[in-house]
Amino acid sequence: MAITLKNEDDIAQMRIAGKLASEVLDYITPHVKAGVTTGELDRLCHEYMLNVQGTIPAPLNYQPPGYPPYPKATCISVNDVICHGIPGEKTLKNGDALNIDITVIKNGYFGDTSRMFIVGEGSILAKRLVQTTFECMWRGIEQVRPGAHLGDIGHAIQRHAEAQGYSVVREYCGHGIGQVFHDDPQILHYGRPGTGIELQKGMIFTIEPMINAGRRDIRTMPDQWTVKTKDRSLSAQWEHTILVTETGYEVLTVSVGTPARPALAAATA
Ligand code: MF3
Ligand code: CO
Ligand code: CO
Repeated sequence: MAITLKNEDDIAQMRIAGKLASEVLDYITPHVKAGVTTGELDRLCHEYMLNVQGTIPAPLNYQPPGYPPYPKATCISVNDVICHGIPGEKTLKNGDALNIDITVIKNGYFGDTSRMFIVGEGSILAKRLVQTTFECMWRGIEQVRPGAHLGDIGHAIQRHAEAQGYSVVREYCGHGIGQVFHDDPQILHYGRPGTGIELQKGMIFTIEPMINAGRRDIRTMPDQWTVKTKDRSLSAQWEHTILVTETGYEVLTVSVGTPARPALAAATA
């Protein structure tokens, strides 16, 4: 496994790409309302990337081995869709909980980030799951520093999710990112402290836990992309792109609209 360590020039480019990805989420936020279709949200994001930012949507025509080309500019995953929801005719309604996942390419560098949205007033469960998943991402981020192990990140996420009675999706993980979309290392969202490779200054990777209200089992739809919970329970995900710094971490996917880091209790509840 070869992990690219980024130099200062790479890091400067990754800050730009990360901010742009986050700004697409800022832009789309006021459009996430009951009555809009996910296809319309995708079209707006795509136009913003092309016409305002001069960025390329990385998902469009993305084709990992064994997959058909991904047909849209964004992933929009509603309710029991865990990830890779393909935007289309689906109309949002009050109470829907959805993830919008944006990956842009700028000057050859990739920025990857996602946020959750709740349409109108969500159920207590939806609000709790979305908040807990946000805390899970941040508990993972807080582990990042040189000398920490990958398993420390996974463990912090898993422990917090399972303490609330939720489950961690195992089939998808965070990933190294830079001038490649999905690179080594894989960032598992579960694990044991002290296991896995040691983090080093200059690594850049995503942390993007997918947390289910019910069981962790998944099923993939016939479109070969859309992944849902097998038990049809609600699923949530948040994602940031993270740089390992000399003393800790830097979140690269930040913009004015980025939700603030939550207050995290010292002891895991
Ligand atoms: N943005 C997703 C991630 O966080 C990957 C989407 S691949 C796509 O890794 F083809 F579905 F868009
Ligand atoms: Co990602
Ligand atoms: Co993503």
